[in-house]
Amino acid sequence: MTKIKCVIAAGGLGTRLQEFRQNDKTKILIEVNGTPMINRQIHQIAKWGIEEFIIITNPDFDEIIREVTSKEFPDLNINYSIQESPKGISHAFSKAEKFVNKDDILILVLGDNFFGENPLLDVDFSKLEKNKGSIIFTKEVDNPNEFGVAEVDKNGKVLDIQEKPNNPKSNLAVVGIYIFDHMAMDNINLLKPSKRGEYEITDLINIYINQDKCSNIELSSWWIDAGTPERIIDLETRLL
Ligand code: G1P
Repeated sequence: MTKIKCVIAAGGLGTRLQEFRQNDKTKILIEVNGTPMINRQIHQIAKWGIEEFIIITNPDFDEIIREVTSKEFPDLNINYSIQESPKGISHAFSKAEKFVNKDDILILVLGDNFFGENPLLDVDFSKLEKNKGSIIFTKEVDNPNEFGVAEVDKNGKVLDIQEKPNNPKSNLAVVGIYIFDHMAMDNINLLKPSKRGEYEITDLINIYINQDKCSNIELSSWWIDAGTPERIIDLETRLL
């Protein structure tokens, strides 16, 4: 039976947010309008109708993240898995494997990414259940070199994705929500670390692109990767 499970990558410490609002822990616990970012994230995704969660944590903060989230969401089905070392988003994603069954549809959300509207509204889950594959979501930005960048042809077919390229081939940033079939867990094992020593999410998506199994949905509402103090403040004003 197909189940939709949401994996939240919450293991990153957030080097650009150390000391912001006396943060000496992890960015995922920084308060956004008075609510820890991880709880805001779960509220956001639960509102989209998702009921099953797997949160990937950093070993130093696993206990406190469990405490903060289970207090706020006693009735949700939340599982936790530790990413022992910061080896990239695909590596974090692989830590969900023990909770993944054949035919599951996996939604991977980066803990610090927030959206004006529910991106899943445009997803045809019954088609995905039948055809499998992956979906990326993109948004036009002025600073694509700071993100994963998608090259998409005029028919909307995804040709290639590059992680923070110096010379971006488009201004379509790949935002921090992705959908994969259960094969993602096997595909991650095929990845090699990138130049910066990480198992990149963009490399996992490129496997799907090469199999012609990746489609793109362009977002029409706002999106914020709340990884810097300025972007957290921007997020807070949008959430008011
Ligand atoms: C990560 C991903 C990048 C993606 C971005 C979205 O970058 O590596 O491909 O575009 O999230 O927020 P990070 O913000 O971790 O540097």
